[in-house]
Amino acid sequence: MQKNIAVIRGDGIGPEIVEQALKVLDKIAEMYGHTFVYDDVDMGGCAIDKWGDPLPQVMLDKCLASDSVLMGSVGGPKWDGVPGPMRPEKGLLRLRAGMGVYSNNRPAKIWPQLASASPLRPSIVEKGIDFIIVRELIGGVYFGKHETEEQDGQLLATDTMSYSESEIERIGRIGFETARKRGKKLCSVEKSNVLDCSRLWKKVMHRLAAEYPDVELSDMLVDNCAMQIVKNPAQFDVIVTENMFGDILSDEASMITGSIGMIPSSSLGATTCGLYEPIHGSAPDIAGMDIANPIGTILSAAMMLRYSFDMAEEADAIERAVSAVLDAGWRTGDIMPSDAEEVAACRKVGCSRMGELIIEQIAK
Ligand code: IPM
Ligand code: MG
Repeated sequence: MQKNIAVIRGDGIGPEIVEQALKVLDKIAEMYGHTFVYDDVDMGGCAIDKWGDPLPQVMLDKCLASDSVLMGSVGGPKWDGVPGPMRPEKGLLRLRAGMGVYSNNRPAKIWPQLASASPLRPSIVEKGIDFIIVRELIGGVYFGKHETEEQDGQLLATDTMSYSESEIERIGRIGFETARKRGKKLCSVEKSNVLDCSRLWKKVMHRLAAEYPDVELSDMLVDNCAMQIVKNPAQFDVIVTENMFGDILSDEASMITGSIGMIPSSSLGATTCGLYEPIHGSAPDIAGMDIANPIGTILSAAMMLRYSFDMAEEADAIERAVSAVLDAGWRTGDIMPSDAEEVAACRKVGCSRMGELIIEQIAK
């Protein structure tokens, strides 16, 4: 099968981690008789430097014409002074909105090999960490009005959050459908004791619940959820939440699994053309040093194969290879254990070596 993939290397560690994911995809193509055609897309800080725009229309058009988009990371201190609408992150937000990918799926699953890298007590980790955050991705405060004006001799900043019933309903359905395919438990997370958006959110979720009698729906306030994720993560199966809460909770959830460098994500809308990216940022402090963890990006490529290209076997092969490489003790710096005894059983490698190890494993 031939698939056209728009590739956004982006900023910071983006280019080096994406390189590893492409190597893995090439290996899969070779072994399973596919052709993956890559089309490079400039987005983020590098696009600002080159085109004066974090996502020029021609670049968005390339993504829209592709079968799916694979992305590394964008942003960095170099562009901190750039005004809001032209920031590197704005390119990503415009891409998500332009592609209409309203549903962001972020798994929080502990790899047994990395259990000791979790900052949680073993007694908590042992109960298991395996849940998914379904994050609404193209609404809410991220896409509201953003304004800073002068009022009464001082600056006043305003960001507005709004959600319509239909926006909530379509992400709610993804939450229920996702739960239906897993443990049939859906936790809707909001702040309905304060926000109107959240009260509407809760109302729509309960209305939908009637259509999914096989799924157990619960409600949780976001502050409590932040606490429960560290106190008893085993209670969660699927969490569905709005854009900003999902951003924050998914970072927290990734941390308890050991490292944010391990977590992939998929973003989908009405079509199979999806956006696949690791959930971590561009880590400018370690960019170009060949020490970043490419696994989050490699697993994002696996998700692309599974969810957009219907290549479950190929996705399984990548995930199995990652697991085998971890079994063999290979670790990037971020997932090295702290315990001296465990360190002895592990070998530290850089970004490109980790990519090679995974390819070698796939070929076995
Ligand atoms: C993420 C990131 C982005 C977000 C930034 C880079 C705009 O933190 O994907 O979680 O907030 O959505
Ligand atoms: Mg984030």
